[in-house]
Amino acid sequence: MDSIHIYGGVCLQGDVRIQGSKNAALPILAATLLTKGTNVICNCPRIADVYRMLDLLSSLGCLVVWEKDGVRINADNAGLHEMPGDAIRGMRSSLCLLGALLGRTGQVSMEHPGGCVIGARPVDLHLKALECLGAVFREEEGLIVGNAGTGLRGTHVALARPSVGATENALLAAVAAEGETCLSGAALEPEIEALCEYLRDCGAWIEGIGTSTLRIRGGRRLLGTRYRIPSDRIVAGTYLLGCLGTGGSVLLKQAPVEHMGAVIDLAERLGAECQQGREGLFVQAPRDLKPCGRIITAVYPGFPTDLQSVALVVETAAAGKCLVEERIFENRFRILEPLSRMGARVRQMDAGRVEVEGITPLRGCQVEARELRGGAALVVAGLMAEGETVLRGCEFIERGYENICRDFRELGARIYGV
Ligand code: EPZ
Repeated sequence: MDSIHIYGGVCLQGDVRIQGSKNAALPILAATLLTKGTNVICNCPRIADVYRMLDLLSSLGCLVVWEKDGVRINADNAGLHEMPGDAIRGMRSSLCLLGALLGRTGQVSMEHPGGCVIGARPVDLHLKALECLGAVFREEEGLIVGNAGTGLRGTHVALARPSVGATENALLAAVAAEGETCLSGAALEPEIEALCEYLRDCGAWIEGIGTSTLRIRGGRRLLGTRYRIPSDRIVAGTYLLGCLGTGGSVLLKQAPVEHMGAVIDLAERLGAECQQGREGLFVQAPRDLKPCGRIITAVYPGFPTDLQSVALVVETAAAGKCLVEERIFENRFRILEPLSRMGARVRQMDAGRVEVEGITPLRGCQVEARELRGGAALVVAGLMAEGETVLRGCEFIERGYENICRDFRELGARIYGV
């Protein structure tokens, strides 16, 4: 898909099913490397990042087959002596393979992870946690090469900050390590819980799930299992905020309401009505959005950084000034330039704070996505704008949304990919 064309100004109405969670699926797919026998991962989202992970698993020798209700993976014959080049290059986007490969084979190579547009994306916390468990890393011709030395051993791993990815890598290595590991300072995101539940279903011993201190008894035999990926709370939040920005009413079917507290709280502060029902979450936008004053991103259960850009766009339709503070990533205001060209009144106060002043009607124009969630936010801006918006850089959006055009069309939007 080269571009998305949006003819905005339509109130979103109707039902849409929420896809499986990208950020739950990726570490669980990596974790299949630690299992014997066959896994069937149901409700796995059909998105570019998952396809890339599955290609990496195939290149490592796993058997990967898509089926009607999910993907079947068997890692028994994964020939894990030498990592193929594309696996090494692909590791940056699938960093959670680090812990799984060390746990399975005792060795791993990855290209030095560059940053991305939203920040430096360092891996120091990942490497420190794995070194605690006995891994040894060295630089070799631009690669990070790691090995488990005489084998990973359980110990106390204290994360300096609750990094989601570092928690996942430490968990995967600890499950394979001999002995007991206490992982303190762990991230609380729901995706960590899902990974722990999957590992437990395979036979792992993990206590403290849902808390910041996980205890793992490693070295147990893990058997492949059937596991259903939970719905994606960020996709659900994107569509919820899109409904608010266009003044509509939608039913988000299978929305993970129990993990959407912060975004539902923002919606209600903006004047929306949110009702949880048997099928999911019903959202009714107010006629006029109320001012909400401040939005500050935080680790879970705070307001998710992945919805910051979408919320910033919606704030252009709320009267008054709103201060948006990004406290997780250092460069996550990439949509300010295109949004200003659409008519928004936004002022960057410093690296982490932007002031949005509403109500400013948006006008459609040519815009380009530079990263996944900023791209989704520009789609929402196009839905809110009068006239036509043409969005390029769709490949970023396809990393995390199965079919954002189809989903918004089901809610009545005039939006087409070409
Ligand atoms: C995960 O990224 C998600 N990605 C991100 O979603 C999400 O924004 C982020 O968690 C925060 O919730 C996946 O799950 C695939 P972190 P991750 O490690 O693990 C710093 C999306 O759009 N840090 O919790 O990379 C880091 O620079 C993506 O779906 C270190 O300093 O996030 C950042 O400032 C975007 N050293 C902060 O911690 C490290 O070794 C949080 O990063 C690791 C991270």
